[in-house]
This record gives sequence, C-alpha cells and structure tokens, in this order.
Amino acid sequence: MSHDATLLIDAARSVRLNAYAPYSNFKVGAAIKATSGAVYTGVNVENVAYPEGTCAEAGAIAAMIAAGDTGIAEVAVIADSPIPVSPCGGCRQKLAEFGKGDVVVTLATTDGLTLQTTLADLLPGAFTQEYMERS
Ligand code: THU
Repeated sequence: MSHDATLLIDAARSVRLNAYAPYSNFKVGAAIKATSGAVYTGVNVENVAYPEGTCAEAGAIAAMIAAGDTGIAEVAVIADSPIPVSPCGGCRQKLAEFGKGDVVVTLATTDGLTLQTTLADLLPGAFTQEYMERS
C-alpha cells in the first residue's frame, strides 16, 4: 500500500465517526485526494425519508467541488464491514465524473482489510460525454 493510500484511509477512518447513519447503523467514511494534492473527506448522511440519504463518496466530492478542485487523483472508502466496502453504482458514476480510469480506489474495513481497485474496474462501460456527441 502506498503512503498516500495509507494517509487517505486514515482520513476516511477519522471522518467516518461523524457519519449520520441512524437508520442503517452503517457508517461510511470517504477521502479523496484531488489532483492539487488537497484531501477532502465525506460521510454518509441519512434521512428519515430514506431515499434522501447521501453516500460518503458524494459528500467528499461535494467538499472537493466546493473548495474549487475538480480532479480526483486517489480515493479511499472505509466502513465496519466484513469485507472492504464497495462504492454503490451511483457513486461509481459520480467518481468517474472527476477521475480518470486509472485512479486508484482503496476499499477498507475498520479492522484493517484493504482491497485496491481502479475507477475503470469499478465502472466498466461508464456513461460518458462521448455518447452525447450528436446532441
Ligand atoms: N454507503 C455509503 O455511504 N457509501 C458506500 O460506498 C456504500 C453505502 C451508505 C449509504 C447508506 O447510508 C448506508 O451506507 C447503507 O447503505
């Protein structure tokens, strides 16, 4: 595991404690290193109207955009799961908006298991601007 991946997991692990997940009790933390080098974090924020909840990855992306960065260089996601937590389909598309296919995504459990993958492997056949070239 690279030094950067370890730092990102640590950032995701810390912020995860602030997740608001009273309905699922499944707290998730995410950390994004932007192409500028800055690190942004996010947590899942649930709602009593369940579909209104947002994922940790979406929170980290929102923080990155609000701060003026638009490129993702690396990602880490962590949860108290039996196997390294895998981003949902919607978050894969959200991450792909700002990161190239070779961006490394480290999936982690709070007890130390990790799995490294890439955005391209997480979202083969991503919908991209290319499909809209006639519009
Ligand atoms: N969740 C995330 O925040 N990120 C993931 O990668 C997987 C799922 C959240 C959404 C919901 O608040 C809870 O985990 C259970 O699905």
